[in-house]
Amino acid sequence: MTVNQQWLIARQPRGPLRPSDFTWRESPLEPLGPGMVRTRVLYAWLDPTNRVWFSRGSYLPPLVVGDVMRAVCIGVVEESNNPALQPGTTVTGFMGWQTRSTSDGSDLTVLPELPGLPLTAHFGLLSHIGLAAYHGVVDIGRPQPGQTVVVSAAAGAVGSLAGQIAKIAGARVIGIAGGPEKCRRITEDLGFDAAIDYKGEDVVAALRRLCPDGVDVYFDNVGGAVLDAVLGEINDFGRVVACGMIGEYDESGQGHVFTNLSNLVNRRTTLQGFIVLDHLDLVEVAYPRLLDWHAAGRLQYAVDVVDGLENVPAALGRLFEGTNSGKLIARISTDEGADAR
Ligand SMILES: NC(=O)c1ccc[n+]([C@@H]2O[C@H](COP(=O)([O-])OP(=O)(O)OC[C@H]3O[C@@H](n4cnc5c(N)ncnc54)[C@H](OP(=O)(O)O)[C@@H]3O)[C@@H](O)[C@H]2O)c1
Repeated sequence: MTVNQQWLIARQPRGPLRPSDFTWRESPLEPLGPGMVRTRVLYAWLDPTNRVWFSRGSYLPPLVVGDVMRAVCIGVVEESNNPALQPGTTVTGFMGWQTRSTSDGSDLTVLPELPGLPLTAHFGLLSHIGLAAYHGVVDIGRPQPGQTVVVSAAAGAVGSLAGQIAKIAGARVIGIAGGPEKCRRITEDLGFDAAIDYKGEDVVAALRRLCPDGVDVYFDNVGGAVLDAVLGEINDFGRVVACGMIGEYDESGQGHVFTNLSNLVNRRTTLQGFIVLDHLDLVEVAYPRLLDWHAAGRLQYAVDVVDGLENVPAALGRLFEGTNSGKLIARISTDEGADAR
């Protein structure tokens, strides 16, 4: 008898997510019904937005007690009564924190093969990570050669790609990241022009020193005080790409009191948010470019893999502590065939 292992939501979180907000369940798998597909989960993305999904203000229906924790995953079809999805097919979709997911298959997308790249390239280079960086820089930020671009959470999955894409566009790129090692990595390994360690130095003073002609584009991943500081240095007709606000997600503080919001008016700034789920049509344009840039050595990505479904709730906190080094993913089970593709 095959058992499904799952993490369910045990209570509505208050403040940061904690492992005790989840409860472990093991239950026997039911026989597969007509038209249904059973997928073995290989990997689950761990995303800052996982915390947002508990909020009534989320862009998806809020998670409630008893739900399987939602997660975008990669899996392999194990058993199928749906002729469109044969066993052995590698798929992606919202499978959740569990070892097996069952659906009619309408929520699953067959993953394209990536010749010469590991399956993990889907996490670090493509999917919602690559699409967010691409759409945010190319379509919203639109930096011109020589303009100054600032990126926050710059050593993270989205931020590191966004900064490199802005460099490809010919911009001067300043990254904001936590700690000297992350600052070293984005400048020495990824080609950013300079870095600001927001945990170790005054961000406003550093922005004034490193951006003497102001900031043309700000790719924001964190919100709060860092957004406020950059707004203080934004140029006329500057653009703020609101990709994420990880500093605000756990709803634990009072929220930052902004002092530079009036610059949206005075500097005629455009601030535009987006959610990549609205832009999946971009795959056809963005994926070939991201893959070409990577093949040419101009776009590097990193993944940080946590092993085992049992370790997932504790690992999620690393995104908020800043101890992840690359796209944080959990390996739920292994599949040599899919991993080799
Ligand atoms: N709009 C969209 O469709 C979309 C899609 C994907 C991701 N996103 C957003 O993109 C952002 C990055 O996501 P990711 O998956 O690439 O994660 P990530 O950047 O790989 O990891 C999160 C990083 O955020 C930084 N951080 C955590 N708490 C912070 C705080 N209070 N203030 C400042 N920095 C903080 C940490 O780096 P440090 O050590 O540098 O602090 C941490 O490593 C998130 O805001 C996410 O929600 C948006």
